[in-house]
Amino acid sequence: MRSLKTPSPSEIMATLVLEAPLTKIGAAARKFLSKPKQLLIDGKWINACSGKTFHVFDPATGDTIASVAEGEATDIDLAVKAARKAFSGPWSKLTPSERGKIIWKIGDLILANLDELAELESLDNGKPLAIARVADVPLAADLFHYMAGWATKLEGHTIPISVPYAPGAKFFAYTKRDPLGVVGQIIPWNFPLLMAAWKIGPALTTGNTIVLKPAEQTPLTALRLGEIALEAGLPPGVLNIVTGYGETAGGALAAHDDVDKIAFTGSTEVGKIIVRAAAGNLKKVTLELGGKSPAIVFKDVHDKQAAIQGAANAIFFNHGQCCAAGSRLYVEKAIFDEVVAGVAERANAIKLGAGVDSGTEMGPLVSEEQFHRVSDFIAEGLKAGATALAGGKPVGEKGYFVQPTVFTNTRPDMKIVREEIFGPVVVAEPFEDLEQVMKFANGTDFGLASSIWTSDLSKAHRAAEIMRAGTVWINCHNIFDAAMPFGGYKQSGWGREMGHEALELYTETKAVCIAL
Ligand code: NAI
Ligand code: MG
Repeated sequence: MRSLKTPSPSEIMATLVLEAPLTKIGAAARKFLSKPKQLLIDGKWINACSGKTFHVFDPATGDTIASVAEGEATDIDLAVKAARKAFSGPWSKLTPSERGKIIWKIGDLILANLDELAELESLDNGKPLAIARVADVPLAADLFHYMAGWATKLEGHTIPISVPYAPGAKFFAYTKRDPLGVVGQIIPWNFPLLMAAWKIGPALTTGNTIVLKPAEQTPLTALRLGEIALEAGLPPGVLNIVTGYGETAGGALAAHDDVDKIAFTGSTEVGKIIVRAAAGNLKKVTLELGGKSPAIVFKDVHDKQAAIQGAANAIFFNHGQCCAAGSRLYVEKAIFDEVVAGVAERANAIKLGAGVDSGTEMGPLVSEEQFHRVSDFIAEGLKAGATALAGGKPVGEKGYFVQPTVFTNTRPDMKIVREEIFGPVVVAEPFEDLEQVMKFANGTDFGLASSIWTSDLSKAHRAAEIMRAGTVWINCHNIFDAAMPFGGYKQSGWGREMGHEALELYTETKAVCIAL
């Protein structure tokens, strides 16, 4: 509703760009969308130093939904300074219990604003609103609740030491866990709020301060999360949010000499750029990168229909825009035709539509760039001789929609088999036995996740043992939990997110040794 007072230029802009596509968005999300989208630095919302902004699009239509401040190197520098000040200032003065309570409250406020956050996420990213409501937003809240508890449990050890070169002398040694300092965090667009939570939660609970750079495609929920964090009582400067592009804002953060760690989720290609940028001051680096995760179905699987549904969900969940997507489907020869036909049937039945439309099962890809990237992969697969059992054709004229696609008759050297597509595209291949399929499964530069579908317990454990991947799901896929570590072998990354493993990567261990 328009107010009676004269609207500011930014309010007018927001009303203009909001008019068309937002009929299904509730009042709270509308209100957020109508406000200017600024940078959060030192507890204040401010414009970028350059005054520049960039547009954010609804991927279902290509229409502009918001205009967001475009931070660059000078803004990153201001944010790092604010984070440094807060690190030795108010944040370090709080007790672990006080810190934990604020983090818990962030989780509570996420739940209190669930509908608004889900609507913003669906609109910005294109994912079905129902999914954002049951998965993205509650999981983000759960991450903060889980991490809040760790603030009071970051214990060291007491260590009995011998010191053989000082006979007769006595010492007492213990370790303690110190925060790293200022951490830079760069996140992608596939689960915008959840990826922010995965990064922010462990950094806060261990006492660090943060400069977060959301993906340029999907900055909205991170900005709303910034408001929530302030409302929860997070002191100014503890969480700074600089929206902007990868090469400029992200690049400046990765290279900044006063940043102690950079945590990145995104493409393997940019992961390597981050590593090089971090070399200047040897800041710590953790990376959660791409994948080409296998889903393996053995013929002894007890519930074939569940395996078919599971294999379909493994690739089609979030439109295949999951680093852990089961994008290589291996099925034991005797049941290959049946299982693959079942997955293709499910692919054909998926209802495409705008994320915010009710009944939508799969939305558009996040951006025009991703639409072309995935469409090119599909075209390349067809040209190389693969058969599209489902999909493989363009959809409509508007929006970035891609048909769920199932390829058979592939060869291991094909680009669609080797490279991460990050769209709803699966390649299916038959296998003879455990030994052969484990060679297929591990025959990749990636090692993020995997799933094994079998009723043979020993076989499941044997396969889990051989698998070179950070996660092995057995008779399930895409199961995530704040308490379960997630991350990659090989070129899928360095380090782990979630669980207590994540805390190790946000702390330094200090050994203290006292002569008695
Ligand atoms: P990207 O790796 O370019 O972007 C991810 C994040 O990194 C964004 O916040 C971006 O602004 C930032 N970034 C980009 N270039 C940077 C640089 N030079 N320095 C610092 N930060 C930089 O990923 P993009 O282009 O959005 O997607 C390309 C492919 O990457 C996808 O098709 C997919 O294969 C993969 N990807 C993997 C993700 C995962 O969860 N592992 C998430 C997103 C993309
Ligand atoms: Mg990129």
